[in-house]
Formats: sequence, C-alpha cells, structure tokens
Amino acid sequence: MDCIKLPDQLRAQCRVWAKEGRTIALVPTMGYLHDGHMSLLDHARLRADKLVVSVFINPTQFGPNEDLDRYPRDLDHDLAIAREHGVDVVFAPDPAAMYRPDHSTWVEVPEMGKRLCGASRPIHFRGVCTVVLKLMHLVRPDVAVFGEKDWQQLAILRRMARDLDLDVELVGRPIFREADGLAMSSRNVYLTPEERAKAPAIHGGLLEVRRELAAGTRDTAELGRIFAEHLAGKLPAARVDYASFVHPESLEPVANITAPTLLAVAVFVGKVRLIDNILLEV
Ligand code: PAJ
Repeated sequence: MDCIKLPDQLRAQCRVWAKEGRTIALVPTMGYLHDGHMSLLDHARLRADKLVVSVFINPTQFGPNEDLDRYPRDLDHDLAIAREHGVDVVFAPDPAAMYRPDHSTWVEVPEMGKRLCGASRPIHFRGVCTVVLKLMHLVRPDVAVFGEKDWQQLAILRRMARDLDLDVELVGRPIFREADGLAMSSRNVYLTPEERAKAPAIHGGLLEVRRELAAGTRDTAELGRIFAEHLAGKLPAARVDYASFVHPESLEPVANITAPTLLAVAVFVGKVRLIDNILLEV
C-alpha cells in the first residue's frame, strides 16, 4: 500500500492502472476512520481492481466557526486500517496541495445545498462538491462509495454527477451504528460520557416515528412532534437543529407520507452537532 501526498502523483498512478485496464474504486473520507468508514472500504474493495481512499480534512467545507481546527486526526491509525482493508493507495494531501492561495472555482448545487444542513452550514456543500469533483478528476474512478449517514451529501453529489455527466457510479451504503443505535461518526469523540450514554435517543426517535407511521399517522407535522417529544423525554439536553421530512432524491419537503420519504435530523447534544436519518416507507 502506498501513501501519496501529491495530486500529480495520484493522477499518474491512476493513469497507469487505467492503461492496464484496471477498474478503480474511490472512497473519499476526512480520516479518523471508524467502522462506518470501514464498511465503505470493504464494499469498495469488492467493486473494483484498485481501491483508493482519500484522507483529507477539506477546509473549504467548514464554516468560520466550525470545528476545522479540532477535527480529530490520526493518519498512522488510518494507514493501519487502510492496510487491513486492502486499500491500494491512501491519498493524504496537505491543504496547500489541493487549494492554491488564489483557488477560485466552485461547484455548487444551490437549491439542494440550502436545505437541511445547508441552512446552518451555508458553504458546506459547495466545499464538499468541489473537493469530491477534484478527487474524481484526479482518480477517474469507475465507482465511488459514500455512506447514507450523510444522505443529503450523497443526494447532492448524485445530482452533481448527473448534471455534469460524470462517468462514475455513485454507491450509497447503509448507516453503520454502534450496538446501542448511535450512528458512528468521527465527531462522537466530542461527546462527554453522559452525553454519549443518552445520544442513542436520536435513533430511538427515528424508530418511534417509523412505528407511528406503521400505526397510520401520515402527517409529517404530527410525526415531527413525536420525534421532538421522544427526544425531549430521553435526552433533555438536546436541541433539535432540524427534523425534516423530505423527498429522498430532490430533498423537497413532504407534508403527507404517501411515498418513500426521508426523515433527516440534526441534533445538538451539548456542543456537538449529530446527524442521522431514516427512510420511511408506507
Ligand atoms: P467523512 O465524514 O469522513 O465521511 C466519509 C464517508 O464515510 C462519507 O461517505 C460518510 O457518509 C461515510 N460515513 C460516515 N459515518 C458513517 C456511518 N456511520 N455509516 C456509514 N457511512 C458513514 O463525508 C465526508 O467525510 C466528507 O464530506 C467528504 C465526502 C470526504 C468530502 O470532504
């Protein structure tokens, strides 16, 4: 396994593979790899001859008051995990190698990027789209694998790939959870032990909504109240940033559930903002 730091070197390696007729899978990450990331690596490993994982804390997707400086990092740990999971190349560039001081080109999916997380993170998805497109140009993967934990991110990237005619298959993989239901996230390490113990209430609330839907409630305003009440009961310190019922592809709001609908939530537990979601089917 190689660890490559320079974009040109990554491009050269991937060109060699392509010339040899090998297929390539890409898994973009910001590192501090956990079991959720590993589930993506394991799937990607089966999908192509060569597997590239990027480990890059992309500065352009963090707002000025967000956690860029304290985002957890441990490249040695990530390299060991990548090796164990059959990765061929870890791409771990320095920010200066990805963004020149006068970088000025952005890729944006404005409407979808304003909804849900975009409401409180206005430049986030612009940064995500730009860095993912850059990675795709460097690697030219046949398939790129993403987690459904960041459903909005995946929906936006699918729209970008469609609109810009990218020749890549985007694959979404299910949310990987801790045994108690909390969605795995690099940010879970920010939780205090007490917050961590109660954080599974977020997933509990999503399941409660699914039960209510099965019992016949279709009105999303009512289902939203049920989520909020569940959370207030189990995790009083939580503050719901949003709990939104949306079309799974367009992310347009849904008032009454008559077709598959995504319930996406972002919840502040203390200072930590956690996201989760569930696909609701009638
Ligand atoms: P990061 O948060 O490191 O996540 C990398 C990938 O792992 C994403 O596709 C994310 O959805 C997936 N993932 C995270 N937690 C998961 C879980 N519990 N189960 C399944 N998949 C999970 O998302 C990013 O990085 C960045 O925005 C990136 C796409 C790399 C662009 O910078």
